[in-house]
Amino acid sequence: MCGIVGYVGKSDRTVHVLLRGLERLEYRGYDSAGIAVLKDHHVDVVKKSGKLDCLKACVDPEWKTEIGIGHTRWATHGSANQENAHPHQVGKVTAVHNGIIENMDEIKKELSQANVVFRSDTDSEVLVALLNQIYEKCGNMLMAIEKTMKKVVGSYAVALLCEDDEEHIYVMKKDSPLLLGVGKGEMFVASDYQAFCEDTKEYVLLDDFEYGVIGRSAWHVYKDGKEFQKKIEVLEEREELSEKGEYDCYMHKEIYDIPGVLSQLFLFYEKQDTHHIPDYTKYHKIQIVACGSAYHAGCVGKAFFSHIAHFPVEIEYASEYRYQPILADKDTLVIFVSQSGETADTIYCAKKIKELGIDSLAIVNVYNSTLSRLTDYVYYMRAGEERAVATTKGYSSQVALFLIILREWMQARKCWTASLEEEYQQGKRKLFEVFPTCLKKYEQFPWISKLTEQPMNFFIGRQIDYALSLEASLKLKEVTYLNSCAYPAGELKHGTISLIEKGTVVFAIATDLDTYEKTKSNLMEVKARGAYVILTTLEDVVKEVEADEWILVPNIGHLFQPMITILPFQLLSYHVAKSFDLDVDHPRNLAKSVTVE
Ligand code: M6R
Repeated sequence: MCGIVGYVGKSDRTVHVLLRGLERLEYRGYDSAGIAVLKDHHVDVVKKSGKLDCLKACVDPEWKTEIGIGHTRWATHGSANQENAHPHQVGKVTAVHNGIIENMDEIKKELSQANVVFRSDTDSEVLVALLNQIYEKCGNMLMAIEKTMKKVVGSYAVALLCEDDEEHIYVMKKDSPLLLGVGKGEMFVASDYQAFCEDTKEYVLLDDFEYGVIGRSAWHVYKDGKEFQKKIEVLEEREELSEKGEYDCYMHKEIYDIPGVLSQLFLFYEKQDTHHIPDYTKYHKIQIVACGSAYHAGCVGKAFFSHIAHFPVEIEYASEYRYQPILADKDTLVIFVSQSGETADTIYCAKKIKELGIDSLAIVNVYNSTLSRLTDYVYYMRAGEERAVATTKGYSSQVALFLIILREWMQARKCWTASLEEEYQQGKRKLFEVFPTCLKKYEQFPWISKLTEQPMNFFIGRQIDYALSLEASLKLKEVTYLNSCAYPAGELKHGTISLIEKGTVVFAIATDLDTYEKTKSNLMEVKARGAYVILTTLEDVVKEVEADEWILVPNIGHLFQPMITILPFQLLSYHVAKSFDLDVDHPRNLAKSVTVE
């Protein structure tokens, strides 16, 4: 979602650092962008709707100034036009904001009564106006921030410039990530270390209700009116930036990263003493909480635990979990899954669980992310930077981690048998054997044009195949804009089958031999009503079904099967999006890191 960058340092670097930082934050998803620079007690703001290129076209790269802030905005309050883009400027204060000010109406009313005129529809401008009003009265920016924080309700990460102070950027944070980058003779602020990690590996993580100030060579953080000592973190090698290399887009490259990521992941977690394992014998229940594809990975995790460990698992969307009574106790382990570790709903739930003293575990990719700091146990996905908005390697590594956790869980409970271990070792060997051939094989789907002939495509499957259908359908929707929907195979006839007509594409996923025959019957039901059926099943299954097309996947055993079965659908979505000439890595309206609820 929205991205923040700020820089104070060398005059010939400011504009470059800001624009490059915004470029680095592009992957989060945005629909307008802007920068503001401060010189001679005057702030210049340039902002544009659309992609960064529109902004760059209006910025003089030779602009000399030592201090500035920048923003990419993903619209919440007000459309994605130039007025609503950040930075917002009111009086002496110019700021960029991530988050949502929930009591904006009340504050806006008060400010309007004091004759403040608003130029945009945003909650962010209201926040800036409030900061300015308080600053005008007290003349001290840190005090103004402290007072503002007491008045606003909601979430915010803010970087601001004050016309009276040419040497500092001020910051404040609650519920939206914000970091300070500590350089030599220069300082950075950003919502994500990707924005400055080419310049410095040292950073300070701000926590909720902290605020502060950065200058060229010093930074200070405060809480409740007092200076607060913070630790300097150092970026590790695994957080290095990723490049597209020979690929035309990140999504394609990230699909090709999957075998390498998974092989390193298994290697890492199979070594003893590399991670802190909970006492898995003490829990009576698991709850999995996540959003989007991370939720879908959790569905695979749930299927693993129910079918293999025969252990009860509940799974919830974080956006629902947060509004329901917490039916978890000290014997429950709550597993949060998130690539970014910054998804607002997931973070909210993790905070709630922490307050209740219930054990929590995170499956997360971004090192030191908010989620990783909120939970008792962390399993890093070790997938490297994922830049395409549509997750592929992130999802696959989450699924792999559920298998790793299942194995540790069952080992701790002494129910991981020798035959399961043999299946595990064999499955893993086969997975890496088949990956290269599969990557090649699923680069072409001669029937792609069928997907556009009808208003809707369906995915059906049972159990783990249904979990995979959910992800396959989401992938197709998010990058191709084709309408699709996933159903448990047996559910279609309870209503939705009325939508099936001649030519409707139905993808049936049936790799689980226990339910294969049943899914086959459901497939026949839709076929009888004219559907164009594309069946995904194991290569060694006898082809006695009358499917129109087949996606055959190698049989690598039930433990590892999901990691290979999802591959054709990840590649299919990429190829359809390419054939439509779409921006594969930045689908419209989407954000990589969803930091608002
Ligand atoms: O960073 P998270 O894993 O918490 O993100 C959750 C979802 O927003 C994310 O998986 C989303 O569904 C992706 N666009 C899927 O490709």
